[in-house]
Amino acid sequence: MRHFLSLADAGPAGVRRILDCAHGMKAARTGRPKGAPDDGAQLAGRVLAAIFEKPSTRTRLSFDIAMRQLGGATLTFAAGDLQLGRGETITDTARVLSRMVDCVMLRARDHADLEAFAAAAEVPVINGLTDRSHPCQAVADLMTVEERLGRPINETRWAWLGDGNNVAHSLIEAAGLMGFALQIAGPKAYAPDAGIVAMARARGGEVALVDTAEEAVRGADVVVTDTWVSMGDEDGMARRQAMQPFQVGSMLMALAAPGAIFLHCLPAHRGEEVTDDVIDGPQSAVWDEAENRIHAQKAILLWLFGHLADLPL
Ligand code: CP
Ligand code: NVA
Repeated sequence: MRHFLSLADAGPAGVRRILDCAHGMKAARTGRPKGAPDDGAQLAGRVLAAIFEKPSTRTRLSFDIAMRQLGGATLTFAAGDLQLGRGETITDTARVLSRMVDCVMLRARDHADLEAFAAAAEVPVINGLTDRSHPCQAVADLMTVEERLGRPINETRWAWLGDGNNVAHSLIEAAGLMGFALQIAGPKAYAPDAGIVAMARARGGEVALVDTAEEAVRGADVVVTDTWVSMGDEDGMARRQAMQPFQVGSMLMALAAPGAIFLHCLPAHRGEEVTDDVIDGPQSAVWDEAENRIHAQKAILLWLFGHLADLPL
């Protein structure tokens, strides 16, 4: 049985298959109503439980629509509505849900809780974001870059600006697995986890921590940022102050490679990590990126259920 707690669970060949499937699934949807099942409805009869310890718009909707299009169903809960919220253990909850549904997506405050849930579960478990990582977002980001730039992912240069947070961690992991160059610029106090960076480098990823936003962005094909204050962060004032030099504005975007695109997982805080002219401008791919969450989730679900061929590439 498979889980999708990090990109490494799929490995480079698995991520490649997931991306190829996601592009194909997207192309096959053209002109269909959003809730209509795909031909073949590969997950007919399957049920996903999606549990959220933190708010969500994109992850919540995209998993529900993904399961509908695959012919299955989703049950969505705030963790506080379950007995989990008043003390039933993670392990007991995982065991019970394993008897009732075919797959669980968990958005957890603490990554260790996701791992404990997966260890006790008898069905596939998906990381729907934790304090440590957001691998489903990284799949949608990789897909968006391939779609917009039309060249192999390992021939692209990325710049990450601002907080070294959960989304950054999954892109660092992606750089290691898929072999693209990633330059990171942000305040030293909010640098990404050194262990995650070291692991990506050990896998062959060209991951560099640089001092200035300009240095990171110069020549980049993809400029990506995220909120300066993530869900659960308590030092909002200090973060906003420290991250000011890493705002993505049009002067910074002008340093990127010709044809560069701007990504943001959303929700965005306009006027903080990104200016209106960038997020609403011609280089912004954020709405495609948000839509691609659906196609990416579908491919991740099919991979988990063993519907993607396992032969090496
Ligand atoms: N990008 C993302 O995961 O958005 P939500 O928090 O709205 O799910
Ligand atoms: N880094 C953000 C991502 C939201 C999708 C957070 O964790 O709040």
